[in-house]
Amino acid sequence: MSKILVTGGLGYIGSHTAVLLLESGHDVLIADDLSNSRAEVLGGIEAITGKRPAWENVDLSDAAATASFLGRHQDVDSIIHFAAYKAVGESVDRPLDYYQNNLGSLINLLNFVKTKPECAFIFSSSCSIYGQADELPIREDAKTKPPESPYGNTKKIGEEILRHAASAHDFKVIALRYFNPVGAHPSAKIGELPLGVPQNLVPFVTQSAAGLRGPLKVFGNDYPTRDGTCIRDYIHVVDIARAHLLAMERLVDGDGDSGPVEVFNLGTGAGSTVLEVLNAFTSATGVEMKWDFADRRPGDPAEVYADTQKATDVLGWKAELSLEQSMADAWRWQQSLRDS
Ligand code: WQD
Repeated sequence: MSKILVTGGLGYIGSHTAVLLLESGHDVLIADDLSNSRAEVLGGIEAITGKRPAWENVDLSDAAATASFLGRHQDVDSIIHFAAYKAVGESVDRPLDYYQNNLGSLINLLNFVKTKPECAFIFSSSCSIYGQADELPIREDAKTKPPESPYGNTKKIGEEILRHAASAHDFKVIALRYFNPVGAHPSAKIGELPLGVPQNLVPFVTQSAAGLRGPLKVFGNDYPTRDGTCIRDYIHVVDIARAHLLAMERLVDGDGDSGPVEVFNLGTGAGSTVLEVLNAFTSATGVEMKWDFADRRPGDPAEVYADTQKATDVLGWKAELSLEQSMADAWRWQQSLRDS
């Protein structure tokens, strides 16, 4: 059994990964400063697994606080680092907060890892570093474009920091580039908790369907796609969590053999248009969606979806849950929030 630090473990993908680690018999320690999560998520994790992970409220962008925290947990075998600000639009308005928090917390954690190079380090990265790729599906060796947002840039720079630090201090890292995480745990005990008006498509859909929001605005129907709306690769959050377990096991087992930093795309390998997502939601839930077409959202690439062959070949991972399953789970989670 390993002791695994999950930073941002009360957040969306972090909590789903913490569940899987606990179910796999690992000891989980969560560091989360509640800047984009709620302490009640601990109860959801416990309700699913029967185990309540240890949690400390740590500001990982504070070097002294992070050093003190990790000084009390030298026995951590692996770190899965989710904790970051992640709202693309907000990052345009608050770039300095995003660089300070996302890069500062990464550097503070790596100052611990360099003293314990056997500690496996998994980094939460993003497909947003690709921008509008020239070739689809997008492979890990695709040219990355200047990210459209400071948020995407913190992920691109984060990967570069990892490459230099891992080489200089002889440790190994796996970076996982998420495409569009959606859905919720089938138990409906944990899920996405967007604070304020959801910026992402699926939480807006479920809140609109629940009558909490007006009709969805579909941002653009004049893109060069099969129905004019943008295409994305929507992947179930439980599939994403599974990839983190496999990536950590690869590093712990000493199989990470291709250089200091290995990178994997996490998607389904298939793209869906916005209208196809709405149809999948209705077919999965029986709830009809109302929407209006609106202007394009600045910075939206027309089409983004992943080539996931590398994760299949190297990690033995492939997405298993369908878009309809994601919609059904997201809806069940939304309904549980109404009842709570
Ligand atoms: C999806 C599609 C919108 C809201 C996000 C993160 C990014 C990365 C991938 C993690 C787009 C359309 C949306 C709405 C709409 N994740 N849309 N009406 O922008 O692809 O990227 O996931 O790192 O960082 O930002 O996701 O859900 O915002 O948009 O029409 O009210 O839905 O135009 O085509 P996006 P999204």
